[in-house]
Amino acid sequence: MSYFVEIRPRELKPALLELDGISRATVEAHYRLYQGYVGKRNEILGALASVDLGAANQIYSEVRALKIDLTFAVGGIKNHEIYFEHLGGAGGDPDDAIAALIERDFGSADAWRADLRATGMAGRGWAWTAFDWDEGRLFNYVGDAQNTFPVWNATPLVALDVYEHAYFLDYQTDRAAYIEAFLRNLDWGIVNGWVDSYSIPTE
Ligand SMILES: [Fe+2]
Repeated sequence: MSYFVEIRPRELKPALLELDGISRATVEAHYRLYQGYVGKRNEILGALASVDLGAANQIYSEVRALKIDLTFAVGGIKNHEIYFEHLGGAGGDPDDAIAALIERDFGSADAWRADLRATGMAGRGWAWTAFDWDEGRLFNYVGDAQNTFPVWNATPLVALDVYEHAYFLDYQTDRAAYIEAFLRNLDWGIVNGWVDSYSIPTE
């Protein structure tokens, strides 16, 4: 069996080209960036497969650089797959299982939104609403880059990209306006599908 298997980017859903307040040009450029992370991941694993692990100590700096770059590329893939998958909906208040989780763990949808907005404004790259399996509850975690700061044993359910590439074309420096547009396009049906498929307990 081969250690190194290439993966391919997921297709972009057509609904992503017709978002409310996030332009087609932004989404297309953003999708190309995601494709780049997939290419990078494949390239890095190819490079790692060709490193002679039996060689002298100087390979360790090379292995270190490749492994760190791998976390960035794989983070970029996972983050963007969540982001693209759960946009294209009608936004509004959460419903069904995710609404119950949000109400229980944040008090209300408004309180969750306020915390996510603040996390998104504070972060340099991402804000994630994730279910932490160890505490059995949701948190809004902050991310500065593709590989910082995911938390072990937590499952992201909402991924708000706040890198400038997500909004600069449409909003220049007005990140707050972009965050409102993100919320208007969330597809809660997709998020509820994840709650169900990951068997996240709602009580
Ligand atoms: Fe992004």
